[in-house]
Amino acid sequence: DWNARNIIDEQVAAIREKVGDARVICGLSGGVDSAVAAALVHRAIGDQLTCVFVDHGLLRKGEAEQVKHDFVAATGIKLIAVDASKDFLDALKGVSDPETKRKIIGEKFIRTFEKAQRQVIEEAGAQGKEVKFLVQGTLYPDVVESGGGDGASNIKSHHNVGGLPDDIKFELIEPLRSLFKDEVRAIGTELGLPDEIVWRQPFPGPGLGIRIIGEITKERLDLLRDADAIAREELSKAGLDRDIWQCPVVLLADVHSVGVQGDERTYGSPIVLRPVSSEDAMTADWSRVPYDVLATISTRITNECRQINRVVLDCTSKPPATIEWE
Ligand code: XMP
Repeated sequence: DWNARNIIDEQVAAIREKVGDARVICGLSGGVDSAVAAALVHRAIGDQLTCVFVDHGLLRKGEAEQVKHDFVAATGIKLIAVDASKDFLDALKGVSDPETKRKIIGEKFIRTFEKAQRQVIEEAGAQGKEVKFLVQGTLYPDVVESGGGDGASNIKSHHNVGGLPDDIKFELIEPLRSLFKDEVRAIGTELGLPDEIVWRQPFPGPGLGIRIIGEITKERLDLLRDADAIAREELSKAGLDRDIWQCPVVLLADVHSVGVQGDERTYGSPIVLRPVSSEDAMTADWSRVPYDVLATISTRITNECRQINRVVLDCTSKPPATIEWE
């Protein structure tokens, strides 16, 4: 029967056996899956593992710092962090089509990751070691939803952080491949990861890039980050973290919504709250968040984020709507 410690013991033994004294690389996305996969592999082989974190500048408030400081402190993992946010913004300039955004972010990510990877390969080479394996935090639903793990979802192209470049011939280590999210969380807790990482909501690889409907700019990102942080804070305060699967906060950047402040007519952008409950993201229902919690979020966002004059609730299930707006 299922038990986090048994799974960890089994995986640790299997990983040691597979890896021998080779070197291993792992991309961290800031999400729970890659964090737990990395911690598990680190438990098995220690410093033979090097993690790479590409900060694409599309994460939520505080998340990059949590990876660079809290995660490293909790695990003792070796980490190479690359701040590529300016690069990504430049590449995304003028782009508003969702699939084009995904494509650009996915490709840029792979190129940036490759550069860091080369550094790891060189360092290992200097010690006479070879980098043979790449860790991926693939879960069971990822395997199913992408049609057998070939990444070919026909609904949205999911460019997951850590995606494998075509021309690189690492063997994969996917220690979470048979697991569901709740099991991964149990393993993360057993491995001593902080709650903020273990209980982090699923977050798409392209990040806030697909939560700004319209062109992505630094100003829009900062605005969305502030609104998102308020929503997260209030949902946590209300004790709803574990009931809500994820709550995308979406900026309708190109919509000009009319508001009134004092005697002034204002034009702002609406923010959409999309809280959903789900088991695996393949289907979802909209979460019945209590009205007073929604009221607090709405008041705080419109008070604290100057350019937002309207907050709306998405009350659609999946299907027919997807979880993300793009
Ligand atoms: P949808 O919007 O298709 O989302 O209902 C299902 C789950 O996948 C996440 N999602 C993505 N994850 N890259 C990712 O890694 C993507 O391009 C992407 N698009 C959606 C979404 O957050 C939800 O958990």
